Amino acid sequence: MNPIEYKNNQLHIEKINIQELSNSNQTPFYCYSEESIINQYDGLYSAFDMDIKIFYAMKANSNLSIIKLLLNKGSGIDVVSGGEIERAIRAGAKGKDIIYSGIGKTDEELNYAIESKVHCINVESQSELIRINDISKSLGVKQNIAIRINPDVDAKTHIKITTGMAENKFGIEYDYTESIYKIAADLKNINIAGISVHIGSQITSLKPFKKAYTIMYDIIKNLRSIGHKIDHVDLGGGLGVSYTTEENIPTFKEYANLIQSIFGNADIKVYIEPGRLLVANSGLLITKVTDVKTTTQKTFIIVDAAMNDFIRPTLYGSYHEILPIKNNLGTSNKVYDIVGPICETGDYFAKNRKMNSVKIGSIIAIKSVGAYGSVQSSNYNSRPQIAEILVKDDKYEIIRERVEVKDLIKQEKIATWL
Ligand code: LLP
Repeated sequence: MNPIEYKNNQLHIEKINIQELSNSNQTPFYCYSEESIINQYDGLYSAFDMDIKIFYAMKANSNLSIIKLLLNKGSGIDVVSGGEIERAIRAGAKGKDIIYSGIGKTDEELNYAIESKVHCINVESQSELIRINDISKSLGVKQNIAIRINPDVDAKTHIKITTGMAENKFGIEYDYTESIYKIAADLKNINIAGISVHIGSQITSLKPFKKAYTIMYDIIKNLRSIGHKIDHVDLGGGLGVSYTTEENIPTFKEYANLIQSIFGNADIKVYIEPGRLLVANSGLLITKVTDVKTTTQKTFIIVDAAMNDFIRPTLYGSYHEILPIKNNLGTSNKVYDIVGPICETGDYFAKNRKMNSVKIGSIIAIKSVGAYGSVQSSNYNSRPQIAEILVKDDKYEIIRERVEVKDLIKQEKIATWL
């Protein structure tokens, strides 16, 4: 059974009726189904016949409860900043559970990561490698590292989330692999643990993965032949999810089979770093219709959520299904623009979308917002961040309180000369 579905024409998340949830919690808010996240984790993990370690890319949804839930499942955590390390530790992660990825790591962040004994740092440049060595030396430790390779593969996804092409800022060009591993091997406070790659996000075909992973296989073979010990390969995240029922996304099994066919007999530990895949479809953004406005050209459904709460539609032109809370209002042939209250024409969730008729006060749900939803929210227009709710079966808890405007202003002051 799908954890988010209509029962008696009423939208439910697990056993919770969303109309009732929105009667007792101020809209807009995010809510997540725990069962959905568990199903995704278990489905992915059990698709592999080989040993694999999942490091959840917490940038997709970094709420402490979501991290804790995945840690409890046995997941590790992929982090990309000092802030994410702190959150992961707060949620109960140990250093050994953490892989530190990402470009532009500062000395302070590296220091914190090394002190926290993170399992591995994925290195993005030669100068970063040298800095890791220097910091490790000053702390009297030897740090595990993997070099992130840029395989120059087009992931055929949105241009803003493509990371594995030569023109992108990420990773080390693969022609330079041998020399950087040689440099790493000569550094006294560096331990070469593995190698990593991540070519992008919301990838909907296995072809780019196959290309990139085959390149990685060849590089590993070569590095080993010249004496480097490569204990693990970190294949990054990026497998897409379906945002509509029509999309044809590779299954867990197909993805796992591809990885197994390349690395199954390579005598290497395999890590993956999925983010979106684990959490995207667990989440709904619940929002209330504040106005319905018809002009000569359009009918606008104006809701109390806005682009500051959920920016994906306007930032990437992404499609998210929008569901009425009650499914028995009769279908309308009318199309609507579903928009927020922010003073920008870019503040929309959907354009020319067919919807059941709604009226002022109706509750609607924006689907598949569990990944890159709340984490990308801002306070634009002095709109405080909204609450997040985790649902398990017939119970729920608020896992992030709604922020108050006074808290937004707290850190500001009026300059003394004013
Ligand atoms: N590992 C690394 C090094 C990454 O940079 C990312 C995502 C992941 C793993 C996880 O990728 P996933 O499995 O979630 O595709 N804000 C954009 C997505 C940005 C992805 C950034 N990196 C969006 O809303 O589509």
